[in-house]
Amino acid sequence: MFDLKPYFDSKRDLINQHLEEIMASLDANQTIIQAMHYSLMANGKRARPILCMAAAEAVGGSETDVLDVACAIEMVHTYSLIHDDLPAMDDDNLRRGKPTCHVQYDEATAILAGDGLLTLAFAVLSGNRRQPPETWLAVIQTIANASGCQGMIEGQMRDIASEGQHLNLNELEQLHLLKTGAMFKASIHTGALLGDGDADQIKDLDQYAHHIGIAFQIADDNLNVEGDPQIMGKAVGTDDLRQKNTYPGLLGLDQSKALAYKHLKSALKAIERFDAKADPLRAIAEYIINRKR
Ligand code: IPE
Ligand code: IPE
Ligand code: MG
Ligand code: MG
Repeated sequence: MFDLKPYFDSKRDLINQHLEEIMASLDANQTIIQAMHYSLMANGKRARPILCMAAAEAVGGSETDVLDVACAIEMVHTYSLIHDDLPAMDDDNLRRGKPTCHVQYDEATAILAGDGLLTLAFAVLSGNRRQPPETWLAVIQTIANASGCQGMIEGQMRDIASEGQHLNLNELEQLHLLKTGAMFKASIHTGALLGDGDADQIKDLDQYAHHIGIAFQIADDNLNVEGDPQIMGKAVGTDDLRQKNTYPGLLGLDQSKALAYKHLKSALKAIERFDAKADPLRAIAEYIINRKR
């Protein structure tokens, strides 16, 4: 039986170490660098970069093939969290167990820290020389599209614009696929590309990513209802407060959990042809719907 905990721990250590190295190449006397470091090196789960590595391994590649890309993805993700928490967006003051960036520093610094992490991610990506240029251009394009105005940013627009309005199940799924699913898909897709997966493997992994991306956001919605803020390091009950469109809001908690489980099953099915090298992906899919933080 595959044990996810040591796998997760060792990958997270590697990612954190490389993120520290990247940040150490910048001037720590600048307040902007300090603010970027503050949010980036807080207690994030590193789910996306770990999935990137697991996808590379599932197709026969290695974690080092994707280390730069994995770290760039975590930078983009952290930027999205800093902006998500701003007063003009979700207005949250706790994130990753610490005061949010705009509370710790100020709003302008938090906006710029997000901008700084987003642009640093692409500097890291474009400096990568491990794979042929065509491959890394495809990787850069995938991450730009997933995080941009036809991916995560559009999802965030819809999330904010639909506060207080009723979305149907299909509209909510589209929102979640953009807001959260796109970056999950990019993490797994780029891992598979850099691990040198073939077209069939990549197709299956895209399908896997589709389902765990939605499942991850359904679980996030569920945790906002019944989670423990101490464990999660962020506030709960806030979706209801802000009249967000969520799965438990639309379906009730039990049905929302059942739907997450259905997506888990579909994710596992998508990769059933893979051998034991995909066991981490199988275990992560399960973890995503059962996690407590
Ligand atoms: C939170 O992401 C935002 C969502 C898209 C649900 P994570 O749950 O991955 O947060 P961290 O990175 O562990 O803080
Ligand atoms: C965050 O979604 C999604 C992105 C940052 C792209 P939420 O607003 O639902 O996530 P939390 O609950 O604040 O982490
Ligand atoms: Mg939000
Ligand atoms: Mg939020």
